[in-house]
Amino acid sequence: DEASRIDCLPDITGDENQNKMLCRNRGCIWNRVENKNSVPACFMNDTNHGYTFLNESSGYHSKTIHLQWKNKSSIFGGDLRKIRLSIQELSENIVRLKFDDPSQNRYEVPVPLNRNIKSHTPASQKYVIEYSNSSSSTFYIKVIRKDTRKTIFDTSIGGFTFADQFLQLSTILPSSYVYGIGENRHFTFQHNLNFKRWPMFSRDNGVNWGDYANLYGVHPFYMCVEDDDGNSNGVLLLNSNAMEVVFSPRPSLTYRTVGGILDFYVFMGSNPENVIREYTGVIGRPYLPPYWALGFQLSRYGYNTLDNLKSATKRMVDNDIPLDVQYADIDHMDERKDFTIDEVNFKNISGYVKELQQQNMHFIIILDPALISNETNYYPYENGKGRMFIKWPSLNNDTRSGQDMLGYVWPKGKVVFPDFLKNETREYWKDLIVRHHTNLSFDGLWIDMNEPANFGTNEERPFNWPEKDKPYWSLKCPASELDDPPYKPRGVFGPRLSDKTLCMVALQNDGAYQHYDVHSLYGWSETEPTLYGLRKATEGNKRGIVITRSTYPSSGKYAGHWLGDNDSKWPDVHDSIIGLLEFNLFGIPYIGADICGFFGHPSAELCERWMQLGAFYTFSRNHNTINTKDQDPAIFGPANADSARRALNLRYSLLPYLYTLFYEVNSNGGTVIRSMMQSFPKDIKSRNIDTQFMWGPAIMIAPVLSAGKIEVEVYFPGGRWFDFTSGELISEGDKKTVTVSAPRDKIPVFVREGYIIPTQLHGANTEVARKNPMDIIIIPDENGKAEGKLFLDDGDTIDTVENGKFYLSSFKFNGTYFSMTITTHNETMVDSIRVGSMTIFGIRREITSVTVNNANKLFEKLKPHNKLYIKDLGVTLQNNVEVVL
Ligand code: GLC
Repeated sequence: DEASRIDCLPDITGDENQNKMLCRNRGCIWNRVENKNSVPACFMNDTNHGYTFLNESSGYHSKTIHLQWKNKSSIFGGDLRKIRLSIQELSENIVRLKFDDPSQNRYEVPVPLNRNIKSHTPASQKYVIEYSNSSSSTFYIKVIRKDTRKTIFDTSIGGFTFADQFLQLSTILPSSYVYGIGENRHFTFQHNLNFKRWPMFSRDNGVNWGDYANLYGVHPFYMCVEDDDGNSNGVLLLNSNAMEVVFSPRPSLTYRTVGGILDFYVFMGSNPENVIREYTGVIGRPYLPPYWALGFQLSRYGYNTLDNLKSATKRMVDNDIPLDVQYADIDHMDERKDFTIDEVNFKNISGYVKELQQQNMHFIIILDPALISNETNYYPYENGKGRMFIKWPSLNNDTRSGQDMLGYVWPKGKVVFPDFLKNETREYWKDLIVRHHTNLSFDGLWIDMNEPANFGTNEERPFNWPEKDKPYWSLKCPASELDDPPYKPRGVFGPRLSDKTLCMVALQNDGAYQHYDVHSLYGWSETEPTLYGLRKATEGNKRGIVITRSTYPSSGKYAGHWLGDNDSKWPDVHDSIIGLLEFNLFGIPYIGADICGFFGHPSAELCERWMQLGAFYTFSRNHNTINTKDQDPAIFGPANADSARRALNLRYSLLPYLYTLFYEVNSNGGTVIRSMMQSFPKDIKSRNIDTQFMWGPAIMIAPVLSAGKIEVEVYFPGGRWFDFTSGELISEGDKKTVTVSAPRDKIPVFVREGYIIPTQLHGANTEVARKNPMDIIIIPDENGKAEGKLFLDDGDTIDTVENGKFYLSSFKFNGTYFSMTITTHNETMVDSIRVGSMTIFGIRREITSVTVNNANKLFEKLKPHNKLYIKDLGVTLQNNVEVVL
C-alpha cells in the first residue's frame, strides 16, 4: 500500500544504486513507484523494525509497559535495547503516552504544564486503550473513542524507532481533516497529505524564504476532525528537539525528532472547540490583553528619526484614523543596543512617549535578547558577564571553553545571549527592564530575534550586511554529534542545526541543558520574565502586553505573536489567515501579521485591502522594514485613509464583543478567531475554507484577497446571515455560496442568527471608545431567539478575572422580550456607560410598542432591511434591563 509507506531513507536523495544498497542495509524494502516521486521508494519493514512487548504493571489511572528492541535492523544505529511506555489517563478526555528510557533520565521539556490526574472513573472515560501484549509481534498502541469506536491514535502502521538521536513514530489518522503543526507558512489550512513534510525548529526565517521551511516558533500540535459527527481530537508531542512531521495519504503522519523523549498528549472533544479547551487546560489558558492592546497599532523599522515617527502618528490623528499604540523599532536605540536611546536622532523620545500617553495612546518598544559585549560601560553586559549568558562547554584546546558564547546580531559588535532558563538571568532581565523604564515609559514590549537569531554562524565569508564595512563576526561551531546529528530533519533550513543560531553544544542553566535540546524554547523562556519585568516597571499592577516572535506551547499564557517577516504581496494576505487560525489552535489567540507587508512596497490597493483584513486581526499592527516607503494608511491619500478609517471604526465598534471573547478563552479556553471548520464541524464543506473566518461564534469576515476584485464568493452555512453594516439578509435556509459585493472601501462582514452582539460607538482610541454609548445588536434566529454576553473590567490592571474585579452581564431575547442580566458587578466604571440604542435585525412582524424597564420608548423600523431601531434606551450598564416589544 503506497499510501502507508514510512520512508526508510528520510536523509537521502540522489544516486539510486547507493540508495538501494543503503535501503537493504537498513532492513527496508525497495520498490520505486514510477512517476510518483513523493512516494518513498524505500520503506520500513515491520518484521525488521520496532519493539515487542516485555511486561506491564498498573497503577492509579496509569500503566507502565516495558518494550524490547527486536535487534534486527536499524536506520541510524544507536537504538535503545529497552524502552518504557507510561500511559496516564489524565482525565476522561486526555491520555498521555510517554515513551522513555527506563535505565536513565533523558532530556524532558521543562515547560511547566498542568498534568495532574483528574479524578474520574473508567466508566466516564471517553476512550479505551488497546495494545499488543505479545512478545512475538510488533508492538503497537491505539487510542479508541469509546462511543463511536473510532481509532484516533494508532501506531500499528509501524516505523517506530527509539535511538538516542533519532526517534520516530507514525500514527494512522482517523480522517484527512488535519490542521495545525507549526510554525511554518502553510498554503492551506487543511493539510495536504501527499507526503508533505513540515520541519519544526525555531529559526529566524522570513515567511517567504524557502517553501516548507521551519519558522520562528515550534508547535508540535495537530487537530483532526474525525468524522461527519464533528468529534475531534488533538495531539501534542511534547518535544523540543529539531523535528519534522510528514503526512501521508493513508492518512497518517510520522514524527521524527533528534532527541528527548516521545511524550504524547491526546485530547478528545465532541467538537474542535472542546479540543482546544482541553489543550489549553494543559498548556495554559491564553493571556487577557489589556483593552488598549485591542486597538490599532502603528510601527515600522526605519523611521530613523523621531520626527519621522511623529509624522506617522500625526498622519493617523489628522486623518481621524483610530490609533492606540505607536512603536519604536531598533532604530530608536543607540547603534541598536538594547536599553539605550539614540540621543541624536531620537532625542526627547521619552517626552514624546509621555505626550502620547497623555492623549490616551500607548507606546511599545522592541527588545532583542542579544546584548553587546565589546563596549565599555555597557551595564547590561558588564553586570552580567560570566553569569547570565549562554556558555561554551569545555572544549579541548580551545580558549572559548567555559566562556560566554559570542555571536553577532544587530549591534555593531559581538553579542552575548541571556540564558533565560536560569533563575538569576530572569531576575536580571526584569531589572534591566525596570531600569530602562525610568528613562522611557513604554507600556508594552515587543521581543524579537529570540529563536535565538545569530547572523552568519558557520559562514566562511565575511559578513557584510546590513553595513558593508562590518567586520566578520561569525560564530564557528566545532564538529559535534549535536551540530551534525546522524539525521538532520531534512526540511530544517540550513546545512547544520546551528545555522543562523548558536552552536548546539552551548550550555544553559549552569550545564543543566544543552542548547541542542532547548533551542526552540529560547523565545518561550524569554517571554515570562519580559512580562513580569514590564509589570514590575509599571508600578506592579499594570497588565501590560508582550508580543513575541518565537513561541512554544504555553507561550500564549504570557504573550501574543506576529507572524514575522512577510512580503507586501497578495498571497501573503491570504496566508496570514491560515496563520491566525493556527495560532488560535496553538493557544495564542492574540495574533496578527505585519499589515501591508514587511518587505517590499505595497500598492495602494493591496494596502487598502490588507488594512481591512488587518482590522480583524486580534493583534492589529501595520509594520514594515527599513529602506521602504512609509505604508501607514494615510500616506496613500484620502481614499485609503477613508477606507482604513471605516474598517477600523468597525473594529472599534466591536471591541466589547472582542474583549468578551478574550475573557471567554482566558477563563474557559477555546479560540477567538475561528475557522469555518471549527464553527460548523458537522458541515463537510466548511472544512477546507481558509478565505473567510469567524470572530467567536457570531461574526464572519470575508476579505478581498486579490487585486482588482470587487466581489467575494462567500460560503454561508445554514441559517440566517446578515450583512453587519446594512442589516441586509444575505442568506437563509440551506447552506449556500453567495457572491457579495465588496467595493474598494468595504470589507464584507456578516453576523449569524441567534446571537446578541454588544457594540459601542467607535472613537479615536480605545480609551475614548470604551466610554461611548453602546448599541446592542440582536440577530434573532428563525424562532426569534438570540443570546450574548458582555465582559468588561478596567482593562488595564492585573488579575481582574482572578480577583473577580469585573463586570459580566448576559443578554437574552425570545422574539418579544429582551433581558440584560448582570451576573457580576465588581467594576463600577461601567455604571456610567449608556446603553444608547438597540438594533434588532430581520424583524418581520409589525411592532406597535416598545417598553424599556416598563417605560414606553420611541422606535423606528428602518427600511429597506427591516431593522428595528430603538433610539435611546435611557439606561446604563449599571442595572438590569428589560425590553418588551
Ligand atoms: C526582524 C523583525 C522585524 C523587525 C526587524 C528589526 O526582522 O521580524 O519585525 O522590524 O527585525 O528589528
